[in-house]
Amino acid sequence: MNLKDLVIYQIYPRSFFDSNGDGIGDIQGICSKLDYLSSLGVNALWLSPIFVSPMKDGGYDIADYYHVDPLFGKDEDLFELIEKAKAKGIGIILDLVANHTSDQNPWFLESKKSKDNPYRDFYIWRDKEEINDIQSAFGGSAWTLDKTTGQYYFHLFAKEQPDLNWANPKLRDTMYQMMNYWLDKGVIGFRMDVIENIGKDIDAHIVNDGPRLHDYLHEMNQKCLAKHQAVSIGETWCSNNETRVLYLDPKREELNMIFQFDQLTMFFDPIFNKWVQKPFDLLAYKKAIFAHQLVHPKKVWNALFLENHDIARSIDRYGDRNSRKAIAKMLPATFLFQKGTPFIYQGEELGMINADIQNWNEIRDTEAFTMRPELAKKGMDEEMASKKALWTSRDNCRSPMQWNNSKNAGFSKAEPWLKVHDKELNEYNVENEEKDSKSILATYQKLLQLRKEHLSLIQEGKFVPLFEEDPKLFAYQMVLGEHVLSVVCVFSKQEAQIPSLSHLGKLIDAEGELGAPYSYSIYYR
Ligand code: GLC
Ligand code: CA
Repeated sequence: MNLKDLVIYQIYPRSFFDSNGDGIGDIQGICSKLDYLSSLGVNALWLSPIFVSPMKDGGYDIADYYHVDPLFGKDEDLFELIEKAKAKGIGIILDLVANHTSDQNPWFLESKKSKDNPYRDFYIWRDKEEINDIQSAFGGSAWTLDKTTGQYYFHLFAKEQPDLNWANPKLRDTMYQMMNYWLDKGVIGFRMDVIENIGKDIDAHIVNDGPRLHDYLHEMNQKCLAKHQAVSIGETWCSNNETRVLYLDPKREELNMIFQFDQLTMFFDPIFNKWVQKPFDLLAYKKAIFAHQLVHPKKVWNALFLENHDIARSIDRYGDRNSRKAIAKMLPATFLFQKGTPFIYQGEELGMINADIQNWNEIRDTEAFTMRPELAKKGMDEEMASKKALWTSRDNCRSPMQWNNSKNAGFSKAEPWLKVHDKELNEYNVENEEKDSKSILATYQKLLQLRKEHLSLIQEGKFVPLFEEDPKLFAYQMVLGEHVLSVVCVFSKQEAQIPSLSHLGKLIDAEGELGAPYSYSIYYR
């Protein structure tokens, strides 16, 4: 499959569809929904981790990279999914969690045993005098003492997620072998979890963009990716418009795409990070998104996305629920025609919103538990820290997919592992939206079809921002020779005056009246 033809749908397997009635989404559940995914218009699925794991971080803590966790099914179920999806023209992309493993991974269990264990250097161990003040992304020190040998191991995330030591060539080869195993099994590529962290130089206090990061990525490319023409998408929270080209310039032979996050992190609080956010500012947002399109357009191919399993639902981030339907239809128009590969996160196409979790006994995400005291430590009063941790918890965007009006929104016959939205919200589900030609789902289908019809313009054309200084409009063009596709969105809850559009050519699609809040119109000439 040509990289630039991809439209990727992200599945958080636990919350997608439960086929065997244990309250947990599984691989057979995905198999049974392939027709739905085809009809949506996607041709690749990125699965969040499905491998054996104690699930301290929803599977981002892998104990065995070669086998499916029984919660999700058997290895055969994954092979079946790869085959069945392929038959429908859909490729499978696995989540490569390469920066760390579970503390239950046999490599770590060995590594812990003694200082001269052959696996010792698969991880990062230091004496007490050698450790520093690097903090874990989930709060607290990134170093934990292991009593067996009296040394500390490094973990950028939970203490149950020890970091692998990529400086060790043996470890690197072990990882490449595993990647090749899955590529040989027919997966088309990998989304690479926090990949910017693998080149770290801990003693120099460098965690992101370490000195050897790009050497490792090039090596990985040569030893696995290139041979299989695999798709690779790096998760890079700290990349920026300068460093991006290092990952993506095809001449460097590293990755195909990266997720860049400055359009989100720019709203984070300097002290409390994502747990306290500034109000959304369209001008700043546009500037960031347009820069992705305009910096090194010949050398980079973008990963276009609104949502994933770590961030709040976009309606709650960019608008409000009073305009739920309109904004959920406008948002895809803001990104589906830009240069790059679109990613759609499960439920986004239905207009799903945050789960509004109110009680600590409904929280499942480890990060919320560890960050709650951390926020208080940083000066937030305890009650507020509790509220912020609840409201911002990643569980909010992980609530089960809404399939129909039956119990648990048709996700499972049993009590789901994480609460489904309250009933009132469940009118936004697949069954209802498939019946309604004006639904959010219908808009996603229509726009993806339109994108397909104009694919060469997107792939080969030039991105041109429109009305950049307008505080209500989000508008852009793709231009190839004489052909121009123009997308004009009113990204505001107020009406907008739209400057003259006559030169944009024929109106080929629209939602809402021209200039109405959260409307869009698309033109072609
Ligand atoms: C990535 C994942 C996130 C996970 C973290 C540690 O950011 O997307 O869900 O918790 O890495 O693996
Ligand atoms: Ca199940």
